[in-house]
Amino acid sequence: MRIASTFGAVLCCLFYSKIAAQTNTTTAVPTYLPIPSSAASVPLNAAGYALEDFGNGAFMVTEGVYQALFIVSTTGIVLVDAPPTIGRKILFAIGNTTHLPVTHLIYSHSHADHIGGASLITAAYPNATIIAHANTFTQLNLTGDPSRPLPTKTFQDEYKLRVANHTLQLSYKGINHVPGNIFIYHSASKTLMLVDIVFPGWVPFDRLGEVSYVPGFIKAHDQILAYDFLHYIGGHLSRSGIRDDVQTQKNYVTDLFGNCKSAIEASATDDPVLGAEKIVEAALAANPGNSWAEFRAYLDVVNNYCANVTGEIWDGVLAGVDVFGESNANVMVESLRIDYGVLGPFGAM
Ligand SMILES: *[C@@H]1O[C@H](CO)[C@@H](O)[C@H](O)[C@H]1NC(C)=O
Ligand SMILES: *[C@@H]1O[C@H](CO)[C@@H](O)[C@H](O)[C@H]1NC(C)=O
Ligand SMILES: *[C@@H]1O[C@H](CO)[C@@H](O)[C@H](O)[C@H]1NC(C)=O
Ligand SMILES: *[C@@H]1O[C@H](CO)[C@@H](O)[C@H](O)[C@H]1NC(C)=O
Ligand SMILES: *[C@@H]1O[C@H](CO)[C@@H](O)[C@H](O)[C@H]1NC(C)=O
Ligand SMILES: *[C@@H]1O[C@H](CO)[C@@H](O)[C@H](O)[C@H]1NC(C)=O
Repeated sequence: MRIASTFGAVLCCLFYSKIAAQTNTTTAVPTYLPIPSSAASVPLNAAGYALEDFGNGAFMVTEGVYQALFIVSTTGIVLVDAPPTIGRKILFAIGNTTHLPVTHLIYSHSHADHIGGASLITAAYPNATIIAHANTFTQLNLTGDPSRPLPTKTFQDEYKLRVANHTLQLSYKGINHVPGNIFIYHSASKTLMLVDIVFPGWVPFDRLGEVSYVPGFIKAHDQILAYDFLHYIGGHLSRSGIRDDVQTQKNYVTDLFGNCKSAIEASATDDPVLGAEKIVEAALAANPGNSWAEFRAYLDVVNNYCANVTGEIWDGVLAGVDVFGESNANVMVESLRIDYGVLGPFGAM
């Protein structure tokens, strides 16, 4: 009885604190601009996924936020990525398309949000060959996550995968989103997959899509455009992209680069808003001896300006400019400073 009532009290309080937390969260939720129609979600089927058929055996499956590609050959399926949020729906999508087994699983890169469903695939098809870049192997070997089994086949620069009547060309062109992130090209359907670089209809996710190396990320746009492709799979959101989506994001990134660069350059002058000297002086007066506070104040003003000017051009064109535009500007400003050497007031005297 006593145990039961204690249990009841605990339940009651957990319940109430959950309600309170939800109420707080609800009142604090910011609202953003409506998303343009080019970023609208595609409808999902009753099982909770959507399939895009690119012809010649190539299919994209999505649950609305993540994407995987599978190729149907005469002897088996080649699957690229296994996002955990699509999970078993990938197996349903394949199983409702063909009776053939998954013989090959390709990892686009090491990140768990794109391949953390791999153990579901290998549980169903234990003999599938797992192919990835050598860097991906090294990263997975370091973290040892059982949901991402180690690749059984790795390569350095190029790997041509022939399965029955299909060919996939895997290419590594250097670090961009993360070391080991590969281009995956299926020429029969003119489908190109490169994950976490272009986000069709949207600005890049937080921090330019959680980028590791901005110059590689920027360069990747032209590397994509050098392919003869009709369908682009970026790994995110609910539809595939076309060349135009890649060109549009290239334009956004070019604007962001230019605006952030101008902001840093103006900060080296006595510009009334961006001039670093005044900003730094005020920050130090309020926080004596605090170098980080000084630098933070400077970066906040520069980032804000870059995000604002870029937002003026792109709000309403791409979705989420007002959600992640500021974070994208932060990353661009830091890359301009330390990768490109655009140091503004902190350059060599
Ligand atoms: C929840 O909301 C109350 C009332 O507005 C506020 O006092 C409290 O600080 C909030 N708690 C959190 C965690 O935001
Ligand atoms: C390969 O064979 C499959 C199954 O017969 C067929 O759907 C697909 O179009 C073929 N693809 C190519 C590139 O020949
Ligand atoms: C087909 O999809 C349904 C869900 O819509 C799933 O229950 C069923 O197992 C799938 N069939 C195969 C053979 O995978
Ligand atoms: C996997 O390969 C082994 C050895 O070649 C074979 O005996 C087994 O039947 C295969 N399993 C599946 C599920 O294909
Ligand atoms: C994988 O990790 C183990 C230690 O956990 C290490 O001994 C081994 O050298 C690593 N293999 C590769 C190819 O990095
Ligand atoms: C840019 O800043 C101005 C002045 O604060 C503001 O009115 C405007 O809404 C901002 N634009 C964007 C896109 O954030």
